[in-house]
Amino acid sequence: MSERVLEHGLDTKPEMTFTLDTTAPNVLPPDPTLRDAIPMLSRLVRDPEFLQSHVWSLLEEAERVEDWYVAYRHDDSDRSCSLQVFVWPPGSATSIHDHSSWGAFCGVVGSILEERYERADDGSLPEYARLKKLWRLEWTREDGISTVQPYDGGIHRVGNPTQEPAISVHLYGPRLGEIDGRDYDPSRDYVCDRL
Ligand SMILES: [Fe+2]
Repeated sequence: MSERVLEHGLDTKPEMTFTLDTTAPNVLPPDPTLRDAIPMLSRLVRDPEFLQSHVWSLLEEAERVEDWYVAYRHDDSDRSCSLQVFVWPPGSATSIHDHSSWGAFCGVVGSILEERYERADDGSLPEYARLKKLWRLEWTREDGISTVQPYDGGIHRVGNPTQEPAISVHLYGPRLGEIDGRDYDPSRDYVCDRL
């Protein structure tokens, strides 16, 4: 059976493996799909070892920083998935964007606000995108996993409008193209590639 273990790469921590799969602890299925990502993330954000090594230690810094950042990233060796931990200080938010892969995230600390959009144009004009807001939801750990499909299937803005720091854990699938995704500016109906 083909098995791959997702290991963290922090030099300062002892070697360990994460428990990412509900049926086979410590093992990621080959080429995980978005459907695989949901139980993986659900389990990971309740794994005491993962929380101790990769989440609780970020809380102090989350009080000091002014903008969101990716505090930890692990790309699987064949780039079939990428695990990332985001820190969101109060008031921080991304621009509106999409991804060239599937993605899933779960709030672990605090509350993450997500605004989701869809294209209101047919995508035929270069650098032009008219967006329509679909919904706006707050995600805490108890609210489950938010998922996006590649490109137009997951246009969103993510942030933390609360007064307390927030932390979220994200899992992304393999890129479907050369770019990381696209950034949108609805004030001028503009879209561009994000390298
Ligand atoms: Fe995103």
